[in-house]
Amino acid sequence: MLESPSSGVFICVEGIDGSGKTTHSRLLVGYLCSLGFDAVYTTEPTRYSLPGRRLRESFFAPERLPVEEEFRLFLEDRVIHLRAEVIPLLKDGKVVITDRYYFSSVAYQGSRGLDWNYILEENLKVAIVPNLVLLLDLSVDEALARISADREEGVNTFEKKENLQKVNDIYLKLAEKFPKLFHVIDVHNSIQTVQEELQTFISNFLEKR
Ligand code: TMP
Repeated sequence: MLESPSSGVFICVEGIDGSGKTTHSRLLVGYLCSLGFDAVYTTEPTRYSLPGRRLRESFFAPERLPVEEEFRLFLEDRVIHLRAEVIPLLKDGKVVITDRYYFSSVAYQGSRGLDWNYILEENLKVAIVPNLVLLLDLSVDEALARISADREEGVNTFEKKENLQKVNDIYLKLAEKFPKLFHVIDVHNSIQTVQEELQTFISNFLEKR
């Protein structure tokens, strides 16, 4: 495991597709900046690394990559993301809000049958443990309805209903397994209501540190 730079705060936002991670992560960054924190948004898979680009291309391909190959690409992309963005930002004392991290690999590649412990162990060889995971919890039916309403191209191969249900189940099990790390928030309410809850939680969390 890499040593975590102690000065900054590393928060990751997780949840199934359609749960509003990107919207809420970006709103949280804006909110924290308005409070005077130096907050920065990052995301995985990245758009600049070769493995990240390869993965993004694969999202709309008719066939999924073999799960082990997919997992390795996410891991390679994660190492690049950590070295290029997260670790330097944390060393500079910033609050880093990351839209997806290794819990996504546990949930998504785990849903395809790859062993959870293996996924966690391989990640912990190269990744730092975040200070907090915000899990946005949404039912699969509602997530799919939101995806269809928002996107012209509709649902991608990562987002088929059975897949998402398994992903959701794994996320909730992870939250049970790591209760000190995870904060689960129900996101069935409006963006504004959920964002206000998140802001209250984050302010308290940062104040207590
Ligand atoms: P996005 O919805 O945040 O753009 O993420 C793209 C997809 O990548 C999403 O369907 C989840 C998937 N994913 C994994 O399967 N494993 C991972 O480790 C990560 C970071 C994302």
